[in-house]
Amino acid sequence: METVLKTNKLCKTFSNEGLQQHVLKNLDVELYKGDFTVIMGSSGAGKTTLLYALSGMDKPTLGEIWFKGEKISGYSSDRLAVFRRANCGFVFQQIYLIDKMSVMDNVLISGLLTGQNRTTVIQNAERLFTQVNIDAAAQRKFPSQLSGGEQQRAAVVRGLINQPEILFADEPTGALNSNNSSAVLDVLSAFNQAGQTIVMVTHDIKSALRGNRIIYLNDGVVCGECRLSRYAEEDSERRGKLEAFLEDLRW
Ligand SMILES: Nc1ncnc2c1ncn2[C@@H]1O[C@H](COP(=O)(O)OP(=O)(O)O)[C@@H](O)[C@H]1O
Ligand SMILES: [Mg+2]
Repeated sequence: METVLKTNKLCKTFSNEGLQQHVLKNLDVELYKGDFTVIMGSSGAGKTTLLYALSGMDKPTLGEIWFKGEKISGYSSDRLAVFRRANCGFVFQQIYLIDKMSVMDNVLISGLLTGQNRTTVIQNAERLFTQVNIDAAAQRKFPSQLSGGEQQRAAVVRGLINQPEILFADEPTGALNSNNSSAVLDVLSAFNQAGQTIVMVTHDIKSALRGNRIIYLNDGVVCGECRLSRYAEEDSERRGKLEAFLEDLRW
């Protein structure tokens, strides 16, 4: 297995009105190419904080983050931003598409920011939109004119427009109804099956079953992990294995 991301004693401390809160505590984790890694853990465990640190959205307080052979934890903010645009894609629970521009323009902006040629970006965007089943008419609409599920699938397109090494998703279906959630998860599964490395935070067992590796976070450290085979999601043995793993952790 090829390692894409690895931390060494990662710490993140927030200061709130003079009070220090240690959110990540000497956390060690390794992520592998091609995996669909799922991060679970109770609310406040530090999942979002970890995702932001791993993806260069935020800097750790102490410790190292290695992306392949590159130590990104020492980068300046500017250098980190360049690294992030080239290597990381994001999908957020709140979606965060800009509503003053079309769905297509939301995606093109992200692509053009990395200095890619406009024609190439448009071609890539059109291909990705087709893969997530958003047609040309919907691409020209404003985000608010689409359903939540369509908006989130468009956000997945935006996240993938720069062909990132890793797509990070923080509770991507947390604000969606069940049908829309399934459609978004179907899209993520399909991209993973085509080779895309994905790291997703979720609370939900059904969503977690889309992954092949589950990491459980508690109080700022990794306290368990479980590998699931890649066979059918509805396989009851597979679900049983995940449920037993979570039960052991008193989830
Ligand atoms: N920017 C911040 N400033 C201060 N405290 C924060 C900040 N971000 C997160 N925290 C605190 O860190 C803890 C973990 O948050 P978070 O990583 O969002 O947890 P999770 O995603 O697992 O629910 C929470 O107690 C939260 O209040
Ligand atoms: Mg969170």
